[in-house]
Amino acid sequence: MSDLAKGAAWINGRVVPIADATISVTDWGFTRSDATYDVVGVWDGAFFRLDDHLDRFMASLAKLHLNPDVTRDGIADILHRITAASGLRHAYCAFVATRGMQRVPGSRDPRTCENRFFAWIVPWVNVLADDVVARGARMKIAEGPERISPNAVDPRAKNYHWGDLTAGLFEALEDGFDTVALKDGDGNITEGPGFNLFAVIDGVVVTPASGVLEGITRRTALEVAHSLGIPTEIRDIPVAEFLEADEVFLSSTGGGVVPIVQVNSRILGNGAPGPVSLRLRETYSDWRANGPLRTPVRGYREN
Ligand SMILES: Cc1ncc(COP(=O)(O)O)c(C=O)c1O
Repeated sequence: MSDLAKGAAWINGRVVPIADATISVTDWGFTRSDATYDVVGVWDGAFFRLDDHLDRFMASLAKLHLNPDVTRDGIADILHRITAASGLRHAYCAFVATRGMQRVPGSRDPRTCENRFFAWIVPWVNVLADDVVARGARMKIAEGPERISPNAVDPRAKNYHWGDLTAGLFEALEDGFDTVALKDGDGNITEGPGFNLFAVIDGVVVTPASGVLEGITRRTALEVAHSLGIPTEIRDIPVAEFLEADEVFLSSTGGGVVPIVQVNSRILGNGAPGPVSLRLRETYSDWRANGPLRTPVRGYREN
């Protein structure tokens, strides 16, 4: 395997093996989590919903006053270039903007930082292991950390403020669960580390309205439901109602629609993935593998 096939990056204006892609310890992206990023999946040689990921990233840049020296079209070109250079056909492709390093020594003014952009690609990454996805995941609603308030950090600008999600993951894993969900300060369900959440309640597919990243897979799952004639609703879901749902599933670029078979001590659907979750998972996987939302990667070398 070539070095680039293990992972490739675009940094300082060129493509390098991922092991050579480094940032300074004084970059505010590192010292202050002052960064935004996005992740687009590459499935069978094509990006899935590339335009939507680029739109979200450009909106995140604007929200966070980040202005790295790159255009939307320039980013798309870079993503094509690193993917083609890696030769990877199933891959996790991340692009990142950080506040960067301070131009004025000692200054604490974020406006005088030199914002940076870089991108990297590695072989496909799943939000949960394949065997967990196949049997359906067991999820704990954290008793400890709550999801950070959207009044403090806007979750719609994809960010690295993962202290709450990581603390929740420790709690869930130590209690023998596969993953975690966090509630907000009002007792509504929000999201988990790298995914949005859905409940199927009386035949309606429901997902939280606020306090969450507006996931591209969440959007796709809602569109898939519409295409199948399954009603949907975007609204707050109190934890007590979530625990009584007929089905629960998560959505993420890293795995699509993934059924949940247990929430806290409640086993759903006799411990087997539910029928609505499975239908959505199947159609989502079909959309990702075929059809109009794919952008074929330019410039792969013929083998
Ligand atoms: C906190 C959070 N919520 C939700 C998601 C799912 O978003 P998407 O479907 O765009 O991958 C992610 C993805 O990384 C995330 O980090």
